[in-house]
Amino acid sequence: MSIPATMCALQQTSLNGPQDMRLITDAPVPSPGQGEVLIRVTAAGVNFADISKSYGTFLGGPRPPYLAGFEAAGEVVAVGDAVAGLRPGTRVIGVGDGAFAEYMLLPAAAAVPVPVGWTARQALGLVVNWPTALAALKPLGGIAAGQTVLVHAAAGGTGQAAVKMAKHYGATVIATASPGKHETVLALGADHVLDSLEGDLAPEVLRLTGGAGADLVLESAGGATFNASLTAAKRVTGRVVVYGVAGGEVAITNWELVYKHQVHIIGLNIGVLIQAVPQIFGELMGELSALISAGVLTPGRTTGYELADGPNALAELEARATVGKLALVP
Ligand SMILES: NC(=O)c1ccc[n+]([C@@H]2O[C@H](COP(=O)([O-])OP(=O)(O)OC[C@H]3O[C@@H](n4cnc5c(N)ncnc54)[C@H](OP(=O)(O)O)[C@@H]3O)[C@@H](O)[C@H]2O)c1
Repeated sequence: MSIPATMCALQQTSLNGPQDMRLITDAPVPSPGQGEVLIRVTAAGVNFADISKSYGTFLGGPRPPYLAGFEAAGEVVAVGDAVAGLRPGTRVIGVGDGAFAEYMLLPAAAAVPVPVGWTARQALGLVVNWPTALAALKPLGGIAAGQTVLVHAAAGGTGQAAVKMAKHYGATVIATASPGKHETVLALGADHVLDSLEGDLAPEVLRLTGGAGADLVLESAGGATFNASLTAAKRVTGRVVVYGVAGGEVAITNWELVYKHQVHIIGLNIGVLIQAVPQIFGELMGELSALISAGVLTPGRTTGYELADGPNALAELEARATVGKLALVP
């Protein structure tokens, strides 16, 4: 297969958000260096982090102009030096820079094969959203059968995987989502679903748990909901795993931890987890593979957008108007 010299890609031109993301047609196709592979992107995954990067609020994120996107699945078309086990033709998914493009480089060591029988698009989420949801539930959240888990943004790319896995591990799931997404969340197996646009969710969670509160909260909502999540967690033993700030930053004081919220607050950043404790990430990927084999995690349903329509996809994600994982198809 011949590889062109230039390609179409989405370039972020400012830190004013996805509105300043433009389609360019003359981006150079990169060459794989040592330990890298070049893939022809079949489907790029849209993540909330793409929005944070476009506003410059993602710590250590790229400075404009940059090629946007970081998650993609596709076919290996060229291999750099010192790459073992990946050949042209292999279908993989991974993370790198510039995924919203026709071609991108992936570090070979972190490229994961697309599950047999799945399309590239169906595998989106496998290396970002699903390990994040699993890390929040298991190694960090300590989920156990019979416990109650509160999952925010349950209809989203990360939340849907969290609901499915929490049910598989025997938990009662209280989900939150915007009103138009409740059917989706219930169909995933959630036991209860609350309106995420309602002011204070804590009283309803306390009512559903007989006043005890949730054993585990998957907190990605931020803003005013963060306080509700702390109030909704069980005193003394409740865990709140914080992995998103969609609704904005909020502060908590030591006074509040002593007198108001006697709960465990645990921060999660999957990129840091991969770097700092790679063996835990390996265990997460092993467990995800087992969950796929067991049919717990099935090929993902994505909403597809043409590459040129990427800014619109990001704007819809930001406006809470989307359900499930979004795919950009170059
Ligand atoms: N820390 C990590 O390593 C890591 C990794 C992956 C994802 N995440 C985080 O996990 C969360 C979900 O990510 P995702 O990519 O799967 O996105 P997503 O869940 O598909 O979409 C985001 C959803 O968050 C909910 N939301 C709540 N408050 C919001 C607000 N003020 N503005 C916009 N949305 C709000 C909305 O659902 P409703 O309208 O239905 O409530 C929205 O649809 C994000 O916060 C993301 O940053 C973190």
